Amino acid sequence: MPVSRDAKGQLLLGTVPLRQLVDDARWTTPFYAYDLDAIVAGARSLDRAFGRAPHLVCLAIKANTAGPILEALGRLGLGADVVSGAELSVATRAGIPPERIVYSGVAKLDAEIDKAIGLGNRGILALQLESLEEIARVEARAKASGRTARVSIRINPSLKRELLSTHDHIATGHDEAKFGVPRDDVREAVRRVGASPMLNLVGFNFHIGSQLTEVDGYRESAALLCQIAQDAIAGGCNSLEFLDTGGGFGIDYGSGCSVTPDDFVAVVVREFERTNLGHLTMVVEPGRAIVGAHGVLVARTVQTKVAGHCQWIIIDAGMNDLIRPALYQARHRIVPIDDHNGPTESWVVVGPVCESSDDFGAHELPSKAPSAVAILDAGAYGFTMASQYNGRALPDELFISNGAVVAVLRGRTSAEWAASRFA
Ligand SMILES: Cc1ncc(COP(=O)(O)O)c(C=O)c1O
Repeated sequence: MPVSRDAKGQLLLGTVPLRQLVDDARWTTPFYAYDLDAIVAGARSLDRAFGRAPHLVCLAIKANTAGPILEALGRLGLGADVVSGAELSVATRAGIPPERIVYSGVAKLDAEIDKAIGLGNRGILALQLESLEEIARVEARAKASGRTARVSIRINPSLKRELLSTHDHIATGHDEAKFGVPRDDVREAVRRVGASPMLNLVGFNFHIGSQLTEVDGYRESAALLCQIAQDAIAGGCNSLEFLDTGGGFGIDYGSGCSVTPDDFVAVVVREFERTNLGHLTMVVEPGRAIVGAHGVLVARTVQTKVAGHCQWIIIDAGMNDLIRPALYQARHRIVPIDDHNGPTESWVVVGPVCESSDDFGAHELPSKAPSAVAILDAGAYGFTMASQYNGRALPDELFISNGAVVAVLRGRTSAEWAASRFA
């Protein structure tokens, strides 16, 4: 459980009472707080799930780009999955070496490709190619820079929608999604990459979607990936170093989740063994499963509102701070940060943003509305998707380790936003 309560009923993140942070004059609500120790412990446990098999866990940093988190995970030996040149810069600045970085994305810019090819002695671990068209573009950039590009072919396994146990907006492994080379074009992709002296085919990869709550689609995709690798090897490809089975490991947002990250790893390990590909490195790219549960968004109640049969708690965090509920009907648990023993009732929790979708849903909360709440499981796709819509500030981010705040990232203020609107 990412949060707990102390003997007095105060909500703790790690061992720090969130009330203590709310009352601290150095920062103001809303703010994100992350438990660095729990993130590191979770990453260690995921790492152990691979046993002795050669593997690399690349954090999908789109889930969380905070330097203190990336530095801690980098020290542990994790790599990064990035999707832009800016994310690539953040990953390397956090000390993650290029050979532990994979780069996905359907439309990498020329400058971004150049940067990835040019890093270190031999560029990043792999540029993950998402289409036949991209092969020619990366080849051209490799020629222009005079360096071979290390590439992986991202496969779209063309899964039936039923096998993608997730919300439509975050399902990527089906034919209508813009991601990856369609399974029918993979042979041609391998031929084109193999024919280019400027491209070095070092891997195959997939990422079929996020917040997967069953492993069936993942297993089918892993089997396909291994089959494709075997075919490539049989066809004379001797440069393969890894197979990357993406991320998407679902977490429990409060309504239960029957799979664990270890279940996904077990699927991969089994497929590699079954197909005798144990000499290749297993790469995975989870984001949410590493950081999601260990971050909270803390907000104060601004006021309540009762009208007819509706009643709202209006907090000072909005959809600009955490957009997942508005974007794909995600539900986060919301709990008071202080002790509460009295009666409870159903409150709709909303933010101050001028949009009807600025709505965190109905929650059973104390009848006497709490003065501050924590929105749980907000460590992934929380701050990274935040905006300054309505001229709002970006929230501060606090990092907790060993019972203390060890780092703070200051959000951009409303005043800075206002100044930025003029030349
Ligand atoms: C290519 C790629 N890899 C990994 C991930 C991480 O997904 P998750 O955070 O669900 O593990 C994503 C998320 O969208 C992605 O697009």
